[in-house]
Amino acid sequence: MQIVIFETPEEVANHAADWVDTLLRQKPNAVLGLATGSTPIELYAKLVARHEQDALCFAKTVTFNLDEYFQIQPDSPQSYRSFMNYHLFNKVNIQKSNTYLPTCSETQNPRQQGLNYERLIKDSGGIDLQILGIGANGHIGFNEPSSSLASRTRIKTLTQQTLKDNSRLFGEDEYQPDKAMTMGIGTITDAKYVLLMATGKNKAEAVNNMITGPLSAHCPASALQMHENAIVVLDKEAASLLSDTEYYQWADSQNRKLNEKFGYYHNA
Ligand code: F6R
Repeated sequence: MQIVIFETPEEVANHAADWVDTLLRQKPNAVLGLATGSTPIELYAKLVARHEQDALCFAKTVTFNLDEYFQIQPDSPQSYRSFMNYHLFNKVNIQKSNTYLPTCSETQNPRQQGLNYERLIKDSGGIDLQILGIGANGHIGFNEPSSSLASRTRIKTLTQQTLKDNSRLFGEDEYQPDKAMTMGIGTITDAKYVLLMATGKNKAEAVNNMITGPLSAHCPASALQMHENAIVVLDKEAASLLSDTEYYQWADSQNRKLNEKFGYYHNA
């Protein structure tokens, strides 16, 4: 794992944007895995700014989102499709037909939809860079604790904690789905690179379990310990329970020199 620690969430977003930017300039038809939630909003704002000011081009980019609420209408303001349109897709030159989410409508079979999503990812050549956030309970995507570390795209029932954490996004009289379609942990770790962003004190325990805890379905993000190219970008609050930060910072300064000399990606 490359662990990178910054003072502020803004620096976290900027660093994540550097990874996406570098990939898209090197491989314009790259396949990006995307996340929703509060954490990547600033990353998407940075990418939009680079598109407007620095000609960052999405014309050939293909995207796969981690998850989508089960049986939600795509045009519902709470859908992850609406979130992505609002924060990124409507503001850059991406072709909407190249943007995918793991949807499942009322008339569709979630098992079949999961298989279809896996096939689409495979047929696109696989994900080059997967962006991730982390839940306070250690989930990635909607792979809640106890999810198989080998899981693939499927329907998941959300935990009470996740429902509570996300309830801020729903109005009092709005229906909050308690199930979602999500890439599995096996799907996520198939990506060539994964970049997980975490900010704020409420993520500190999950981040510590992910990095220093045992590899365990109890903390789904710990699966990243097995990934060849995992980059974890933290602000100082999310990193506040880690004990080896001096080493991480020293290693990061060395990695930056290596990246400058040899490039960020060695197999993109
Ligand atoms: C979102 C997702 C989730 C979030 C996680 C953190 O697509 O898959 O795993 O990344 O719940 O959410 P925030 O960033 O809102 O704290």
